[in-house]
Amino acid sequence: MVLTDTHAHLYLEQFDKDRGEVMERVSASGVSKICLPNIDHSSIDSMLQMEMDYEGVCFAAMGLHPCSVKKDFEKELYLVEDWLNKKKFIAVGEIGTDLYWDKTFQEQQEEAFKIQVEWAKKHQLPIIIHCRESIDWTIDLVETLMDDHLTGVFHCFSGNEAQAKRIEQLGFYMGIGGVATFKNGGMDKVIPNLPLQRLLIETDSPYLSPVPHRGKRNESAYVALVAQRIADLKEIELEEVARATTSNASNLFGW
Ligand code: NI
Repeated sequence: MVLTDTHAHLYLEQFDKDRGEVMERVSASGVSKICLPNIDHSSIDSMLQMEMDYEGVCFAAMGLHPCSVKKDFEKELYLVEDWLNKKKFIAVGEIGTDLYWDKTFQEQQEEAFKIQVEWAKKHQLPIIIHCRESIDWTIDLVETLMDDHLTGVFHCFSGNEAQAKRIEQLGFYMGIGGVATFKNGGMDKVIPNLPLQRLLIETDSPYLSPVPHRGKRNESAYVALVAQRIADLKEIELEEVARATTSNASNLFGW
């Protein structure tokens, strides 16, 4: 069985003490490829170092996270643009909107998102979208920015069926993570009706650990628990979930 973790921040300091062991558990659990999305200027060096250390397993995406969009976001974006021009990445991300933590820079978030989507189009890369408490707004934005080639994933999808339909119509994917395993996550009603051909699995490590590790540090090996949860909810074999999500991830990221 081959699995993929399409969203993990394993380069963060939470893994500095035991990154090697975490990566050993990755190979032992059948996870063959991991996407590392960027956050802001402070995460670039460690992310690229990890991509180098685990060549062929870890793949970096370049972008400015909406929670890092502040007054100085233009300076941050300049750095993203520069990196996209000088090195190959597998996606532009993570980018998007977040109205959960802070609404102060809503306008700037929208502007930063639009600019980065244009760069994704220019470099013909998929986008990795973060949208917390802002999914309808973000789908609206993507709809206005669509062209014939733009594609991507709504990471940490926790929306309803109507929102899933709109994402499906855009030809985008939905990233399913630890929230799917939460009893109060509300995803047990939605996931059975989501098309397997549109799903990716992810951890968002070190955040959002699936049950039974909820509340503790997440790591990429736990993506197997997410795959199992999808299989249980859809009443299909784990193998089928693994096969479909790995093939979807290969299509999206060119793996
Ligand atoms: Ni993330």
